Amino acid sequence: MTAVLEVENLTKRFPTMTALDSVSLRIEAGEIFALLGPNGAGKTTLIGSVCGLVKKTSGRISLFGTDLDVDSLSPRYRVGLVPQEINFDPFFTVREALRIQQGYFGQRRDDARIDELLAALSLSSKADAQTRALSGGMKRRLLIAKALVHRPKLVFLDEPTAGVDVELRRDLWNYVRKLKAEGTTVVLTTHYLEEAEELADRVGVINGGKLLLVEEKAALMQRLGERSLTVKFTAPVAALPQGVAGTLASDSLSFSFVERSGTPRAAEVLSALFAAKLPVGDVAMQPAKLEDILVRVLSESRAHTPVAP
Ligand SMILES: Nc1ncnc2c1ncn2[C@@H]1O[C@H](COP(=O)(O)OP(=O)(O)O)[C@@H](O)[C@H]1O
Ligand SMILES: [Mg+2]
Repeated sequence: MTAVLEVENLTKRFPTMTALDSVSLRIEAGEIFALLGPNGAGKTTLIGSVCGLVKKTSGRISLFGTDLDVDSLSPRYRVGLVPQEINFDPFFTVREALRIQQGYFGQRRDDARIDELLAALSLSSKADAQTRALSGGMKRRLLIAKALVHRPKLVFLDEPTAGVDVELRRDLWNYVRKLKAEGTTVVLTTHYLEEAEELADRVGVINGGKLLLVEEKAALMQRLGERSLTVKFTAPVAALPQGVAGTLASDSLSFSFVERSGTPRAAEVLSALFAAKLPVGDVAMQPAKLEDILVRVLSESRAHTPVAP
């Protein structure tokens, strides 16, 4: 099947630094892809190169099967971008701004679509307000509506929830689920890793302009995720049963075990404690977190990067 987006050896050099270093990536139809990495990693530059805001230095970008060097315009009509920075003309009303955006993307006026988006993003009461009079959160909502008004097949969300209120985050992620259900492909960058963990089908990690890893989220969580088991005893325990890995606290009143790929399952360890008739009181399980995985992937990549003399 043709990828929605295919990037091959994409490089972007600025005069003093390389923002993208031979990045290759395929985004498949209908997936939610989370592009993760620290500030300055190259996420916005990558999105900008696809959307036509950044001129690549070298490499190939293909959208819906069309090489952007052959046709840079028509494939981009099917792309929506929620940019990191607020960037709209302050002298229109919310509804006018959305109508202009529809026209800009070569579409006929479609007020039903505008009303649907205004409702989904809790903007209906602001339809006739001047955009410059909107609060920061409302401006952010309008930015999202603008990116979606022409029913794009591929949507980039570049940190759309940075610094916004909890309701908008919830509205937006519900809307992202709806987009996916309708078959829209979504690429998002976010600082809120719980969101990526919840929404993403696949995850890419970028740092220093290099794509370090691309993997199914579930497989990545399975491969690198660490779950920890904590057991509290109701009386001090003299020793752990033979063969049980894990750590007994110095007061002998609690026990901890980290389950990773290749270790016994936490459930097996727990049943060994019960089988040995240890006085198990409280049991707590801390799930694996994408955030911990990201921290580990990034620190390992730094450790492997040769330090210039
Ligand atoms: N117009 C520009 N001129 C020079 N350097 C830039 C420009 N835009 C981005 N950069 C640099 O490229 C790197 C990647 O930036 P960016 O793609 O915005 O990262 P991210 O979105 O992951 O935080 C950063 O070091 C940034 O300073
Ligand atoms: Mg950015």
